[in-house]
This record gives sequence, C-alpha cells and structure tokens, in this order.
Amino acid sequence: MEIESANCKFRVSECEDIEQLSVDYPVKCERKIDGLETLVQELHRVFSKSHVNIQEVQSLMSAYKSDPKQWRKFAKFDRFRYTRNLVDAGNGLFNIMILCWGPGHASAIHDHADSHCFMKLLSGSLDEVRYEWPNNVEPEIAKKLKTKSNRRTLSENEQITENSTNLDVNENDRCQKSYQNGRDGCQNGHNEEDCGYDAQSMKEIGRTRLEVDDVCYINDAQGLHRMENPSHVDGAVSLHLYCPPFDSCRVFDSRTGKSTEVKVTFWSMYGKKNKMVIETNPSDDQD
Ligand code: SIN
Repeated sequence: MEIESANCKFRVSECEDIEQLSVDYPVKCERKIDGLETLVQELHRVFSKSHVNIQEVQSLMSAYKSDPKQWRKFAKFDRFRYTRNLVDAGNGLFNIMILCWGPGHASAIHDHADSHCFMKLLSGSLDEVRYEWPNNVEPEIAKKLKTKSNRRTLSENEQITENSTNLDVNENDRCQKSYQNGRDGCQNGHNEEDCGYDAQSMKEIGRTRLEVDDVCYINDAQGLHRMENPSHVDGAVSLHLYCPPFDSCRVFDSRTGKSTEVKVTFWSMYGKKNKMVIETNPSDDQD
C-alpha cells in the first residue's frame, strides 16, 4: 500500500476502505531513528494531523532500533502479571507505553476499543495470537462492514427482485440475524454451519512470533488478539501505541466467546510507579 493511500481516521470504524488497511506483517525497515526520544517526537509530528497514516507510523516504529539504555527506566516488571507503563500521553491523541512481560505472562483475548494498535518488540520474544470476533458480540467495526455489505446485497437484490415473485428474506439476512442472536444460532431452519461459524468457541486465525525490532499492527476490523511470552525463563518488553487512547476494552473467554468490559490502568507513568493500581488490566489469559 502506498503511504498516501494508508490514511485513516483516528477511530477505526470511521475509516474508509477498512478492508484495505492490512499492511505487510511484521514490518521491517532500513531507515534509522536515533533514540526513543526522537521516535516519540516523530510520532507527535505524524499524529498532529487529523488522520492516522498506518504505514508511516509502522515505518517510524521500525526505524527505531531498540536500545535498553533508552527505555530501561520505563520497564517495570511485576512477578505475577504483565505491566503497562506509560511513556507519553501524546497530547491526548495517542498514547505510548512499554509493556513488561515476565516468563509465561500473557494478555487475555481482547479488542482495541475502535482504536489503532501498533506494537514493537524491544526485548525477548512474544507470540501474537489472533482470533475472529465471536458471534455474540457486535463491534462498531462490524456494524460498519455490515452496513456496507447490506448496501452491496441490496443492489444485487434489486436485480434479483425484478425477476422475483415474492419478498422472501435473503440468505445474508438470515445469517445476520443469527449473528445478533449469538449462540442460539440461525433462525428459519438454518443450522450454524450454513451460516459459516461456530457459535461457541473462539476461532484462532493466526499466530506470529515477534522478535526484537519487529513491528505489528491490528485494529478491530482485523479481529482480536492476545500476546504471550513463550519463554519460561526470560522476560520480554514491548512498545505499544494506541490511537486514540482508551481506558477500557473488552476481554473474551476463549471457550465461550463471552466478553467482559474491563478498565485498563498503568503500573507506572513516566518512569514512576503508581501508588494505587486497580488490577483490572487484561492480563492472565482465561484459557
Ligand atoms: C496486548 O496484549 O496487546 C497488550 C494489551 C494492553 O494494552 O494491555
């Protein structure tokens, strides 16, 4: 995708051509940004416009080469769960944080609250596991995609209706109804397989091992994900950028698809540990 064509609104569901937002993954880049501070300044520059250029942000994050001396002061670990440590609040437009993962630590399957999520590995390795949305939850993004596909279906149907003798609901409508009905499945005599999904379990759609300096990107149109430190010995550190910032998101039970809204909090801010941390970050996979 050309940089010019990668522009997007801050809210993912307000973007045009959401389906075309996927970019090469994980991104590697030859350019060099000297230092974390310079990266943060550059990110302020690109986010000062009223849109997000996904590819440009990914390139910038790739161009910075991880140097522990520059981020160590933000990297605060906890024995029991991964920690979220705020680095920069991005003038309220985005936020940058460093996440510290002890051996075996993982996040729950979660969405991104209609925000863009960029991530770069600074140390160790992490597995990113992606999932389809379960059929009992309808994200903002699905509403938008559905509206678009309804529009397409409508114009296709208009042609069919000309040759049709009744006003029967079409196949798409039946399946959409079952989406809203969740695990009760399709109505009108359709079984779940006819509608192309399993109403119960969450479907894994991809798994990628990220190594130091790899960058990846996800938004709600691409599905859900969780991160996992595959090492039982070493920690891992990652840099995350969310635009716009969010303080709550949904976590999902992989066995049932049941979602719960949770608040996300910071373990430390600007290198200083928070005194009170409400322990509701999406950690500890529910598997
Ligand atoms: C992740 O698993 O992507 C991190 C979630 C978070 O921001 O806490």
